[in-house]
Amino acid sequence: MLDRLETTLRVRGGVRLEGSVATHGAKNAALPIMAAAILAKGKVTLHRVPRITDVSVMWSLLEALGARIRYEGNNTVTIDGSNVATYRAPYALVRKLAASFDIVGPLLGRFGRAEVPLPGGCIIGTRATDMHEQAFVALGCDVRNAHGYLIAESKRKHLQGAPIEFRMPSVGATKNAMLASVLARGTTTIKNVAMEPEVIDLGNFLNAMGAKIDGLGGEKLTIEGVPQLHGVEYEIIPDRIVTGSLLLCGAVTRGDVTVTGCRPDHLEAFMMKLQECGVDLTFGEDWIRVDGSAITGGTEILTAPYPGFPTDMQPQMVSFLTTVPGTSVVEESIFNGRFSYVNELARMGADVRVSIEGNTAVVKGTAQLSGAPVEAPDIRAGAALVIAGLAAAGETELIGLEYVDRGYERLEELLSALGGQVQRSSGITPIVEPAGIFETREYPRVSSAAG
Ligand code: EPU
Repeated sequence: MLDRLETTLRVRGGVRLEGSVATHGAKNAALPIMAAAILAKGKVTLHRVPRITDVSVMWSLLEALGARIRYEGNNTVTIDGSNVATYRAPYALVRKLAASFDIVGPLLGRFGRAEVPLPGGCIIGTRATDMHEQAFVALGCDVRNAHGYLIAESKRKHLQGAPIEFRMPSVGATKNAMLASVLARGTTTIKNVAMEPEVIDLGNFLNAMGAKIDGLGGEKLTIEGVPQLHGVEYEIIPDRIVTGSLLLCGAVTRGDVTVTGCRPDHLEAFMMKLQECGVDLTFGEDWIRVDGSAITGGTEILTAPYPGFPTDMQPQMVSFLTTVPGTSVVEESIFNGRFSYVNELARMGADVRVSIEGNTAVVKGTAQLSGAPVEAPDIRAGAALVIAGLAAAGETELIGLEYVDRGYERLEELLSALGGQVQRSSGITPIVEPAGIFETREYPRVSSAAG
């Protein structure tokens, strides 16, 4: 089976980007919210669903479970989960998307049982599930691992609300604990939760369906179980990582770029670091503008759970820092394999040294990167290589654009709108209007590595 078509992006570097582009809906909010839709008795209408391949995998997964999904145009999707008839998720789809594990909570809420392939790991690091399992056990489930599947089953007819305290904030475990407990009997408290905007968006969505989750945005959630949830119309938050990536595309070319339709309050740690590098940054309620004409020097970064500097911006930021005078130090604290792309950056002339432990990179700003053929190892690293390509002299050919397509909706069009010389040069165009990827039922550009 041909699993990976080599779609490439040609980037002609050295062009100063200017102008304004709108960001799209958040991948990491859309995925759990789509999964959560099967908890509703009634139709869910979601606006601002990004047309990216990770969404199409979640779409297929929900359909495989029996849900009916329609693309209504303009990034609006309706999901009717009333016919969902199985609690077993197929490996063929789950292996393509670690976030498929978000379906465990909704299946438990719906059936009191879930059988979902374990995510294992991917290029950026281990995708452990001990805290997910901790939550399911606390809520009254038997949990076991059999033949690569996590099998969780409620010991009583309904899951039972319970106190849960995580040893550290996990985005995925917090989401699954919320998803499993909204329909449980009684009260659940969850301490040390992830506070990422996407987790809060999932909570707001569940509350809009009739759930009773209190404390969203804080370190402790209190969830009163309700007997059922109803259909709802809901708009997904803007993607902060796409927003940040586009801003770096502007800054790396020393350009002047405004991203609209975003939430500056979700990007505070990132914006602070850009300012430390001398990027002139202004913002309003739903826009951010960068002017990279007076960059001064590097910075020190430690990735951390929200509101810290996001791990999902680390590769793109490192790319930018390779073009900034002075030395920067970037420490990754969330994933144990998230510097694999630096070898590709090195091929473009970047000076990035990763510590033997693999968690710290020392970046020396080089005078000039040079365009080269490079390969994207994952979604954010792919975006990082595009950023490097925009700054490099000559042409960069990025192989593995299908990784970027997992999280960025038509990145080449956004960059072209800013004056960038970028071209999707082979493979399949992700969106064929008016029938989008959502209607083709094909997932040709989805890579085999989950992320
Ligand atoms: N972890 C455990 N045990 C658990 C759960 C997590 O040890 O039970 C560890 C993981 O192995 C990892 C760390 O904790 O090293 C962080 O995991 P977390 O659960 O917070 O992340 P996730 O839910 O797997 C989501 C995003 C990632 C993003 C991280 C951190 C989605 C679909 N994915 O992953 O996004 O990097 O949170 O913010 O929401 C991306 O979009 O490119 C991406 C990788």
